[in-house]
Amino acid sequence: MKKILVTGGLGFIGSHTVVELQNEGYEVLIIDNLSNTSIDVLDQIESITGIKPTYVNIDLRVQKDVKQFFDTHEVDGVIHFAAYKAVGESVSKPLEYYQNNLNTLVYLLGELTARNIDNFIFSSSCTVYGQADQLPITESAPVKPAESPYGYSKQVGEILIRDTCKALGLNAIALRYFNPIGAHPSIKIGELPLGVPQNLIPFITQTAAGMRKELSVFGDDYPTVDGTAVRDYIHVVDLAKAHIAALGRLLQKENKTNYEFFNIGTGKGSSVLEVIKAFEKASGFPLNYKIVGRREGDITAAYADTTLANKELKWKTELSLDEALDSAWKWQQAQK
Ligand code: UD1
Repeated sequence: MKKILVTGGLGFIGSHTVVELQNEGYEVLIIDNLSNTSIDVLDQIESITGIKPTYVNIDLRVQKDVKQFFDTHEVDGVIHFAAYKAVGESVSKPLEYYQNNLNTLVYLLGELTARNIDNFIFSSSCTVYGQADQLPITESAPVKPAESPYGYSKQVGEILIRDTCKALGLNAIALRYFNPIGAHPSIKIGELPLGVPQNLIPFITQTAAGMRKELSVFGDDYPTVDGTAVRDYIHVVDLAKAHIAALGRLLQKENKTNYEFFNIGTGKGSSVLEVIKAFEKASGFPLNYKIVGRREGDITAAYADTTLANKELKWKTELSLDEALDSAWKWQQAQK
């Protein structure tokens, strides 16, 4: 049984990926410092799969703790989710973001290469493309100057890994996620935003639940189908399965070069108003929203060309936007 370390394994995407790894027969070790999640997620994972993953509460910013972890645990691969992810916050706290998103990566890669541990998967983001010149976005689209320290931390993270692969022979895959949404069909794990959500779907579900007065739709003067911005919303379970596919590719040595990156989305763009309409259908009642000005740093439209991921990872999305919104709404209703 292959042992896989999942950093940030109690977070939103991490927890869904742990479930899929266990479903596929992998033994999972989780590192999480609980900075943006709850320890209860560990029990929830066990109640879905019947298996409690090994859990270690260490902070990857503490280099000696990272070393000690690898001194005492053997692993066959690493899926690295642990990072800060709030774009706005990263602008006011750049050093915290670079320290948490980059120092930790340097420490991890250092331990892996010193010990000849291979097979590394990195959480990257479609944010590296900025506003791409062509849609859908292929992997050959250029990386554009980032709008935020968060965005730069993903760009530099990719470069750190690429250079490590080149110089030290590590095999790695970066997955550039589009917009992950939804919850596990069991409704036992989902997204747990702290404070006021910045992302669209948790804001919508909290508004529908009466926790927020109304949703502000940021801009209706974009050159899109209805004037609102367009994104590629992918069900988190489909996204989790992309990690299993990428890991399998590395373990079976099917990768073509020792550093690869793939777009992980559905290939379909949806406008904010289309998402609202789909949510109203899923929940069965109208959502309170108003149109306001554009949000600084937002782009007009982004959706993935998934041809490469579909072919090379032998993976494709199976769940619809409606299913994702239905699960997000059920998850919201299950929160106390
Ligand atoms: C954001 C980040 C991206 C990150 C991703 C996942 C920015 C510029 N990008 O993507 O780097 O990887 O989250 O965490 O922040 N919207 C509203 N009202 C709201 C919230 C959102 O109209 O209250 C709109 C936005 O303007 C956007 C769409 O909904 O058009 C999606 O927004 P969001 O969920 O924040 O994701 P992104 O901005 O695409």
